[in-house]
Amino acid sequence: MLSKTIESALNNQIKIEAESSQIYLAMACWAEVKGLEGVANFMYAQSDEEREHMLKLVKFVNERGGHAKISALSAPNVTFKSIKEMFEKLFEHEVFVSDSINELVHISLQEKDYATHNFLQWYVAEQIEEEAVARTILDKINMIGDDKGGLYLFDRDIESLTVTTAASNAPE
Ligand SMILES: [Fe+2]
Ligand SMILES: [Fe+2]
Repeated sequence: MLSKTIESALNNQIKIEAESSQIYLAMACWAEVKGLEGVANFMYAQSDEEREHMLKLVKFVNERGGHAKISALSAPNVTFKSIKEMFEKLFEHEVFVSDSINELVHISLQEKDYATHNFLQWYVAEQIEEEAVARTILDKINMIGDDKGGLYLFDRDIESLTVTTAASNAPE
């Protein structure tokens, strides 16, 4: 059984994962209308992943005797100055999500809820990977600079940049 404190903290994370999915869907759309098909496909996949993160939490809350609350979401940014700015925003957002997961882990220990603590370890590992991917992408974009040919190749290759290749050294 979840305590009220844990339940509401998990529900807050459900909202954050849902908002992440919307933020990345908006990025996918922006990239798609810019003609960056590879980036768009990459961001559509990221958006789907965030929805999976949300659903995993929804199921956990409901299975542990709580009630997952599906709430209204904040509207995401729909335009960006550049592809660099877009990926900077993505990186900042992943760092924000990591902080939020860390806070949840802290609350689970305070509440002595070891089942939730154990469940959250998957998210801790996932955030290490996602931050690593975002950092790798930003490094590549900084290397490209204003080179149009570089951006073309980046757009072509980003789809093969999976979580496993970018963060193969991160723990599973
Ligand atoms: Fe997530
Ligand atoms: Fe994420």
